[in-house]
Amino acid sequence: MDDLKRLAAEAAMAELDMVGSNLSPGDRLRIGLGTGSTARHFVDLLGRRVAGGLECICVPTSARTARQAQSLAIPLADLEQTGRLHITVDGTDEIAPDMSLIKGGGGALLREKIVAAASDRMVVIADEGKRVEFLGTFPLPIEVNSFGLSATRDAIAGLMEKLGLEPRISLRLSPDQKPFVTDGSHLIMDACFGRICDAIGLSGELLEIPGVVQHGLFLNLCQVAYLAGPGGVSRLEP
Ligand code: A5P
Repeated sequence: MDDLKRLAAEAAMAELDMVGSNLSPGDRLRIGLGTGSTARHFVDLLGRRVAGGLECICVPTSARTARQAQSLAIPLADLEQTGRLHITVDGTDEIAPDMSLIKGGGGALLREKIVAAASDRMVVIADEGKRVEFLGTFPLPIEVNSFGLSATRDAIAGLMEKLGLEPRISLRLSPDQKPFVTDGSHLIMDACFGRICDAIGLSGELLEIPGVVQHGLFLNLCQVAYLAGPGGVSRLEP
């Protein structure tokens, strides 16, 4: 599986080259760096490119990715300094045929979504196993404020019941069994929606709940995906 992730990451380097070849003179590539075991391969490959002389400035989507990038001497900045990014490369937990995604299995969904939305091009890299016909088998990560946690949980449960679902929601825990805390100091609830038929509607309803900071549905953000399987890497566009 790790080999497939690496293959997908390698394939995405072609996107960098394409974007890089269209830069104005004196401009350098502004890249968003995703989070997770697949994005990690991309950061690793980018580190080699930087060591080879590639000029770029990168915005990491998590403290984890920032640490990895720093260890590879990849120049980092925040969005305030860079403005819009040319490209972001990130992994996913699910990808549907219309390129909608569920992300957040690694807990970085808020920064990932901010960075993807601030990018001209979001490129997803994954192994073929992430491809689904409908989103929702993977429990939807929902980032919530710790204040009023049970009120927020009840509101999410109420929404699930309204949709005819049994509210199966769990507070994400770290390996030490304490609540997982995001880089933004929030918590994550994982909610089992099963097949999500109306992702736009669900997104809107979740964001109406005051304690919900963001959710892992990435809609109309991904422009291209590289999915690696035993037969090679396929490139998907909507
Ligand atoms: C991080 O919060 C996530 O959105 C990851 O991008 C996603 O979970 C994919 O991770 P892997 O590449 O580790 O499967």
